[in-house]
Amino acid sequence: MHDVLPEAFRQQYQVAERVRVLLERAGYQAVDTPMLERSDLFLASFAQDAWQNLYAFQLHQRDLCLRPEYTASICRLYLDHYQRLPQPVRLQYAGPVFRYETPGRGRYRQHTQVGIELFGGQPRCADAEIVQLACEILQALHITTYRLELGHVGVASALMERLHLDRQAAHLLLTLMEQISRSPDGEQAARARLEALYPQTSAETRIVDRIEERPLSLNGQSYLVSSLLSGISLPFSDEDSRHEIAERFLWKIGRSEQRRHVFAALEFLRQLRGLAGSPPEVFSELQTLLSSYQLDDSPLKELERLVALVEASGVDSRQITLNLALGRGVSYYTGLLFEIHAPDEEGADLQLCGGGRYDHLVRAVGGTSDVRACGFAFGLERLIPLIPRDDFHIVEQRPVIVIPVGTHDLVYASAVARHLREEGLAAEVDVNGRGVSIGLRQAARRGAQFALIVGETEWQSNTVTLHDLESGEEQTVRREDLAEVLAGKVRIV
Ligand code: HAM
Repeated sequence: MHDVLPEAFRQQYQVAERVRVLLERAGYQAVDTPMLERSDLFLASFAQDAWQNLYAFQLHQRDLCLRPEYTASICRLYLDHYQRLPQPVRLQYAGPVFRYETPGRGRYRQHTQVGIELFGGQPRCADAEIVQLACEILQALHITTYRLELGHVGVASALMERLHLDRQAAHLLLTLMEQISRSPDGEQAARARLEALYPQTSAETRIVDRIEERPLSLNGQSYLVSSLLSGISLPFSDEDSRHEIAERFLWKIGRSEQRRHVFAALEFLRQLRGLAGSPPEVFSELQTLLSSYQLDDSPLKELERLVALVEASGVDSRQITLNLALGRGVSYYTGLLFEIHAPDEEGADLQLCGGGRYDHLVRAVGGTSDVRACGFAFGLERLIPLIPRDDFHIVEQRPVIVIPVGTHDLVYASAVARHLREEGLAAEVDVNGRGVSIGLRQAARRGAQFALIVGETEWQSNTVTLHDLESGEEQTVRREDLAEVLAGKVRIV
């Protein structure tokens, strides 16, 4: 977590404001949610790893946390305030989020997210709108070198359904997809985790091999297990406990089957990742892979249409990567997934934006039915270093320092400063109370061009003594003429 000093603060504010205006023009109304939420809001939407990154604590028997992102909070806000209004509902937000991650380059424990959520709309149109808007933001910020990575959760989930993976295994694989899709190392780490969760014992291997050699009916399997048990010189109290042991054994065998399917799914994801690349070439290769697994290619077709729309809005196809193994750390996505990456100042890859479609999240956080929705979020701290320096016009007025001669002149000094500020000039009162000559020296050190000396003579005659800190010249100016006199002289840096 970082302190934000004036220059960085100004830059963050300017960028957030530029994005806010752009999104408002596109119909997105700015909202905000409390930084503190009930922890269970994120239970429904997060994978276990992300869940472990929560800043969570108990207060007065309530489980609370600092928000780790906005999407789930905005869904809650939608349910509380917008669900009866006509769709589409377009919302934007900007603010701090907190994740207990290992800090690294561009990875902070508190960062600022700027994003949108779009509720309702026809999915194809809504998906295209949000991806185009994300690119439009980069264009408006003059960030031209970036890579748009598009994926779709539908392909991997269709395979898991076909393999009859149980819910736990499917959920786990979907959340490991991010790791798998990143690199061969990530895939190895995911494989090791699956190995630990779905271990294979040698006894199981032998049984499964026998079953695979000669597939048996359920009764046949029961018979096989029972006959194995009769070969064991263990006393069974009754027929029920023999049956229970047979069932447990079968459950273990079932788990071995899950293991086989989990690793088949992993292999499929590996192949998908291997085919990631720029359109249009990759479409036909992906098509071939999907048909070899007899999988429905409608997610691919959806992405093909999306790519055409994104290209038509000015994004070069070489900037687009299609990666059907793309996975994201959270598990709420149901369709389109996308990320935007760019090299940082040292050339290392940085994820600037992440988003996608999440049609079940509103129900998961308390809605009575599903609501179609999609959105994205940028990390503001990652965007700023990529914006050309010339874009930050820091218009800073050199301040005018009003120096009261004595403490009894403070009321008049404040009135003069207030009047100048009302006229749009930067004016500060010298609060050091150490007299005029030290006041003048400090005003020069502060970078001021002019000081206004105000004592009894001045407030009685409703004037000020204007002191030019560069030339040392002084002149008496009437208070009502002051703003006009200064406006022509104060330099802007
Ligand atoms: P996310 O990819 O986890 O997505 O975060 C969005 C963006 O926040 C990232 O692309 C990255 O730029 C920035 N970011 C994430 N973690 C850090 C960090 N530790 N330090 C600095 N920047 C970071 C979401 O949060 C989803 N809620 C996005 C979304 C909106 N999906 C649908 N709607």
